[in-house]
Amino acid sequence: MGKSIAIDGPAGAGKSTIAKMVAKDLGYIYVDTGAMYRAMALYLIRQGIDRDDTAGIEKACEDADISIEYENGQQVVLLMGENVNAYLRTEEVGNMASASSANAKVREKLVDLQKKLASSKDVVMDGRDIGTVVLPDSRCKIYLTASSAVRAKRRYDELTEKGITSDIKQIEADIIERDNRDMSRENSPLKQAEDAVLIDSSDMTIDEVKNAILAKAKERL
Ligand code: DC
Repeated sequence: MGKSIAIDGPAGAGKSTIAKMVAKDLGYIYVDTGAMYRAMALYLIRQGIDRDDTAGIEKACEDADISIEYENGQQVVLLMGENVNAYLRTEEVGNMASASSANAKVREKLVDLQKKLASSKDVVMDGRDIGTVVLPDSRCKIYLTASSAVRAKRRYDELTEKGITSDIKQIEADIIERDNRDMSRENSPLKQAEDAVLIDSSDMTIDEVKNAILAKAKERL
């Protein structure tokens, strides 16, 4: 096992931005597990499978070939050998990922891949169940959250910057719905691990959050 920092928390808390910065600072590899669930979701969408079709999801999950590569330190997700990074960040894929990630077969397959990645390398890994299920022995666990209003505002600003018009109220409603689904599902629900440090980033800058995590890492690793 390499060294690890496990970062969990709800959508839009800033996990990936912060995790990337922390990984760069420490020379660790950043593993974005949400991107793996998104790649699985993209596969299901491309296969025309409905999000409520459990049998269809389980069959497709067996066929889906998902793997990870690193190019210039950047994680590349390969679906059936194709680099699909450019297709993963849409709301459609995110909503499908939230629904299909509740499936135990989907989780089993991707958790396995995540454990393998962490077994040989030092990683900063982010997701929903990293501290609780994927890396339960990690010595540095962070639970990063922020209010739903703040998270919606961040997402809205991100879309606006890309020239995409959106409705902030709708974004917040989607965030709350996704949180509820992620936290109330039977398989590996999103929750703070007992030994995780809670960071609420609502009133913090990115640098403040990064420094808080680096300080924890120094103390614990
Ligand atoms: O972090 P994200 O928005 O890219 O994640 C997309 C979905 O995948 C999210 O709704 C929950 C799910 N997910 C999960 O169940 N477990 C993880 N470790 C990471 C993501």
